Amino acid sequence: MADDFFIVQGLGGKRTLVGELPVRGSKNAALPAMASALLFDGALTLGNIPLIEDAGFLGDILEELGAQVKRGGNGDLILDTRKVNATALPREIAKRMRASVILAGPLLARFGEVSFPHPGGCVIGNRPIDFFLEGFQKMGAQYEEAKDGYRLRAPSGGLRGTDIFFRQPTVTGTETLMLAAVRAHGATTLRNAAMEPEVVFLAELLRAGGAQINGEGTPTIEITGKDKPLRVPHKTPRVIPDRIEAGSFLILAALAGKDILIKHCEPEHIRVLIELLRTAGVDIEVGKDFMRVRPPVRASESLGKAQVYKSFGIKTHEYPGFPTDLQAPAVVFLTQAEGEALVHETIFDGRLAYAKDLSAMGANITLWDAHRAVVKGPTPLKGRELHGPDLRAGLAYLIAAIIARGKSVLHNVRFIDRGHERIEERLRAIGVMIERVKN
Ligand code: EPU
Repeated sequence: MADDFFIVQGLGGKRTLVGELPVRGSKNAALPAMASALLFDGALTLGNIPLIEDAGFLGDILEELGAQVKRGGNGDLILDTRKVNATALPREIAKRMRASVILAGPLLARFGEVSFPHPGGCVIGNRPIDFFLEGFQKMGAQYEEAKDGYRLRAPSGGLRGTDIFFRQPTVTGTETLMLAAVRAHGATTLRNAAMEPEVVFLAELLRAGGAQINGEGTPTIEITGKDKPLRVPHKTPRVIPDRIEAGSFLILAALAGKDILIKHCEPEHIRVLIELLRTAGVDIEVGKDFMRVRPPVRASESLGKAQVYKSFGIKTHEYPGFPTDLQAPAVVFLTQAEGEALVHETIFDGRLAYAKDLSAMGANITLWDAHRAVVKGPTPLKGRELHGPDLRAGLAYLIAAIIARGKSVLHNVRFIDRGHERIEERLRAIGVMIERVKN
């Protein structure tokens, strides 16, 4: 796989960026929406699908199963799964992309069987699928675990509705079981379900096709299954904006913006970040689908000296709490804020590993354990060579490189490409000195 890299000339702490930053469709909403195509009776068109690697990988898997997947204009993606006849996820791509496990629910419900390789852990930590397997079992499925993966079979009459309590809210688990329950016999209740906006979007999409779902966005989702495919809706469903991209742009704008307008976003989806940044002193104007950030000016600062923001603690939490996917970008903010902050990552156990690299850039971060770190600021950052370990840490490095003094070389751009559509083009348009070097 190509490993492009970015060369970034840092701003050395100056707030000079000006212009508009459009937010693209959400990766984590696009993937379950694409998986849902397996439940529709014709070609499903989805709007606002970002041009990102992960959408490409999932499209490739669907094609290997027999679907037709075409890009339309304007971010549309057209998925026709009527000729799908295979139920085994292709190993190579499926292993590369943990989120492919989202396909298990709709395949099992529609064909009565599915097999997939063990998705395994990944760099952000141990990522089990026990809640998925237990959920499918409660719906009557049997599973066999072999060395190379899982094979699930629905009972002869098809999956049965049931009552499932998640021991911990799981986003993809809630989504894939919801997708299965839409085609199961009878009613399914998902309790302690994930409340993320991506889950709500999926429920709305399924309902537009005739599914009976209530309670999405709360911990209890009720689904009444139907033994027939969903109807393709007349109006093209549009994937919701990426709240993590919007939040990362907000942090960048606070640290390096002179006047930045973040467009096509849903500020309500990142309310927690907006509230925290405002407490820190960031000047954010919020509209229904935009956010504008300008440097704060204190009366005593008529000479133009930028205000130093105040620090805040972070504890990651399921929605509407602080998203784990924004934890690394927020830590970059904290390195520039005054005070000492405790960062507590509660969702994953490998999501503070990037701290070492930020420290090497000049940040003052003490790691207590795999879940907790203390960040003391403000500390100027120096550019350097960086290898982003995953998508979200990659974005944090990018923000750090932009605010640092001097040049940074950012490797592993493929991780950033997995979730963000040609980010360098959008950043260049507001004045970031960034160049992609193709490899
Ligand atoms: N968990 C289990 N057993 C399971 C499933 C989950 O113990 O069977 C645990 C996980 O280990 C974790 C917690 O439950 O501690 C929550 O994990 P969840 O299942 O919600 O995560 P996910 O669905 O695999 C999605 C996003 C992630 C995001 C998390 C948390 C997608 C495709 N991925 O993952 O996004 O970090 O929710 O919000 O929706 C990313 O986009 O870079 C990314 C990693």
